[in-house]
Amino acid sequence: METPPKDIIDALDRMHLLKGADPRGQPLTGGVSSDIWRIDLPGGPICIKRALAKLRVNADWQAPVERNLYEARWMRVANAVVPGASPTLLGQDEVTGTLAMEYLPAERYPLWKAQLRDGVVDVGFAASVARTLGRIHAATAVDPSLAAAFPTDGIFHDIRLEPYLTQTGRAHPDLADRMQRLIETTQRNKRALVHGDVSPKNILCGPDGPVFLDAECAWWGDPAFDLAFCLNHLMLKCVWVPAVRGGLLDSFRAMTVTYLPLVGWEPAAALETRTAHLLPALFLARVDGKSPVEYITREADRDRVRVVARRLLADPPDRLADVARTWKEEIAA
Ligand SMILES: Nc1ncnc2c1ncn2[C@@H]1O[C@H](COP(=O)(O)OP(=O)(O)OP(=O)(O)O)[C@@H](O)[C@H]1O
Ligand SMILES: [Mg+2]
Repeated sequence: METPPKDIIDALDRMHLLKGADPRGQPLTGGVSSDIWRIDLPGGPICIKRALAKLRVNADWQAPVERNLYEARWMRVANAVVPGASPTLLGQDEVTGTLAMEYLPAERYPLWKAQLRDGVVDVGFAASVARTLGRIHAATAVDPSLAAAFPTDGIFHDIRLEPYLTQTGRAHPDLADRMQRLIETTQRNKRALVHGDVSPKNILCGPDGPVFLDAECAWWGDPAFDLAFCLNHLMLKCVWVPAVRGGLLDSFRAMTVTYLPLVGWEPAAALETRTAHLLPALFLARVDGKSPVEYITREADRDRVRVVARRLLADPPDRLADVARTWKEEIAA
């Protein structure tokens, strides 16, 4: 246990969480865009997340620390829609871009990504991720007054659309127009509260269901982005953990059949089409964009992803099952 940095102590004080205590803590590993600490207070442990101005992944990837405020707002909204969908928010300090939340011990709340890496695939859990996400999208879609609380078009562009889609268009110049059109479609369909980083590395497998972390890309925007983002991770895991690709493909299907019936704010087929069009762009983005997945290391595997993604982008299916079929034939047969 260490003494936390002074600015974290000051932030705790401004959030009225210190109550005269002299806290000890421990930095948690895993955060690349924030400092994350477990802080032990007299009432028990809490978790502190302080946004970094410069992400640790990449020297030229910067993001405003105000994203921490939108993360805190996302947490509050999500918990109001689905209690437990996010750690309980305990406070937010705008001065330093720091939030305080309930501490969820890894023994009871393992990370979904670690489970998948270990070959533990629970199709029912994937369905529950889709159910929680769909409920949050559905509840927020009917409350457009929320849009004013998430004026994050600029942040979302800079830390999602540009690094993934624009950058992929730079790596594949013949696809640059296609990437630009996908960006425009995503920006035009502002319908619900988007999490923005629905990845197994940001989802804990809690005893009562999924707990979503890391909503610092929260945006009033196109919910298709969240669904596509998560489905992309399930598909890429087929390359990482081929032994469980059958379960991963089943999880993909479980997510889609659970999510799509929850789409009440627009025709489900329209949302499905946007998701199906984004998905191959995201396959490619995770190989050639600004934030490639760390676990596809062989060039031959990257090429396989490129081939299938480019084929799907050239003739994009509108149905997710068709994207999955092509992926299965080429990558996970
Ligand atoms: N409330 C919490 N309780 C316990 N551990 C937590 C909590 N919040 C985050 N963590 C731990 O810290 C890790 C990183 O959290 P988070 O994803 O929010 O940070 P980040 O810096 O945005 O990470 P990255 O950019 O790598 O996705 C999580 O994977 C988890 O292990
Ligand atoms: Mg994270």
